[in-house]
Amino acid sequence: MKVAIEQAELKDVEVDLLVVGLREGGELPTPIATAAGADDAKSDFKKLSLLRPDGFPATLLVGLGERDALDAERLRIAAALAAKEAKRLEASSLAWALPQSSDDGAAAAALVTGTILASYRFDRFKSAGDDEPPRLESLTLLGPAGLADAASTARVVAAAQNRARDLQNTPANVATPSFLAVRAEEIAAGADSVSIEVLGRPELEEKGMGGILAVSQGGPEEPKLIVLRYSGGGSGPTIGLVGKGVTFDTGGISLKPGPGMQEMKMDMSGAAAVLETVAAIAELGLELELIAAVPSTENMPSGTAIKPGDVITQYNGKTVEVNNTDAEGRLILADALAYAAELGAERLVDIATLTGAVEIALGSTYAGLISNDDELAASVTSAGEATGELVWRLPLHPEYKELMKGTVADLSNLGKKRKAGTITAASFLEEFVGEVPWAHLDIAGSAWDIGREYVGNGANGFGVRLLVELARRHAA
Ligand code: BES
Ligand code: MN
Ligand code: ZN
Repeated sequence: MKVAIEQAELKDVEVDLLVVGLREGGELPTPIATAAGADDAKSDFKKLSLLRPDGFPATLLVGLGERDALDAERLRIAAALAAKEAKRLEASSLAWALPQSSDDGAAAAALVTGTILASYRFDRFKSAGDDEPPRLESLTLLGPAGLADAASTARVVAAAQNRARDLQNTPANVATPSFLAVRAEEIAAGADSVSIEVLGRPELEEKGMGGILAVSQGGPEEPKLIVLRYSGGGSGPTIGLVGKGVTFDTGGISLKPGPGMQEMKMDMSGAAAVLETVAAIAELGLELELIAAVPSTENMPSGTAIKPGDVITQYNGKTVEVNNTDAEGRLILADALAYAAELGAERLVDIATLTGAVEIALGSTYAGLISNDDELAASVTSAGEATGELVWRLPLHPEYKELMKGTVADLSNLGKKRKAGTITAASFLEEFVGEVPWAHLDIAGSAWDIGREYVGNGANGFGVRLLVELARRHAA
């Protein structure tokens, strides 16, 4: 989508749909205030009124509610409502009169984000028909020229988030580990600042990445550990991003129930977020050093699959009893975290659809955050607040560690009791980060079906906005 800033008078704007926010007690600009229906327009948050003023484009009034409650999240929602109305009206161009606020840059960014995310469609596998409504092609913000940077950054990030949604939506027969590796190759080819290394089965065997190999041994798809390095300079510590890339999770021999299993194509949502975050960071040219490691495999049952009770050796030498083959994410992340630390990551952030338990605890409103470092946890939390990708921290404690000890091996991949599933999974991961400050994001409840206006249900690309924001602050 094209995004532009213009300082034009409302009456001179040539678009299919003009959008004006209406705040409680606020006044409409003159040419609109006198249009038929303007008097009845409601300023309650999310109330829409469509006006057709003479000699003017169709004008949508969007209620923004109370002045004090107007924040970036409300603007993302308002923008999404306007984008949906544009779709209904088959408008291909839209202009937003930027509402006054204390932070114009953040307001512009929120409108861009909400518009681009709400205009997302995934139709790669639909036969082309004549009934396709036109897409929204351009968004113009009516406001000061100084907002161009904020708007264009938001455009880059939202487009990256939509690409992450494409990866999540792409079915598992297409989006294999090799497919993710090809996408990573494209990202590396598109920027001089990004280099790539992809480890396949022979390299994983040579290095002893027993977790990724074990999970992959049930199926024919070759596992990949995709490593991207972004070199943007700067003087801060090197950031390591690790994203779970299980392209389909059947559970393996500990087979999942049938109903709803098709959704497990999204078990690579962490990988999608990490890959497209790197692409966005490179496009923005942020000043930092970054290593991304994406372990990717299917989790399939078969005669060659890993069995409950099998013992494997992870990359860092720790042995693990695989007591439930459906707790596969932690096994592949363990190798990737240890590898990223070895490659020089000085702050680690992993993002993974790791446990059903996180959805029980936090629903889809917050992702779970678990960290061994208060400072890193605080920066992740505040990057989440700024972008609307909310996270809530859960504790670590030696007692949770105790639950993850193995009977015949160092560790078990399954907690001894059905207690604190999200935390015990994270405690397991902590065994692989050494002394590196680390934050784990469990997005099993927030990467899909969160139902927020601007992303709706299905794939939402959770994590891209948060991770890019974290990198931006790190670079600043
Ligand atoms: N991929 C799942 C977690 C998941 C659940 C993602 C729902 C998205 C939506 C993960 O691999 C898994 O199966 N976790 C198990 C762990 C258990 C066996 C300890 C779970 O949460 O049930
Ligand atoms: Mn699983
Ligand atoms: Zn999984």
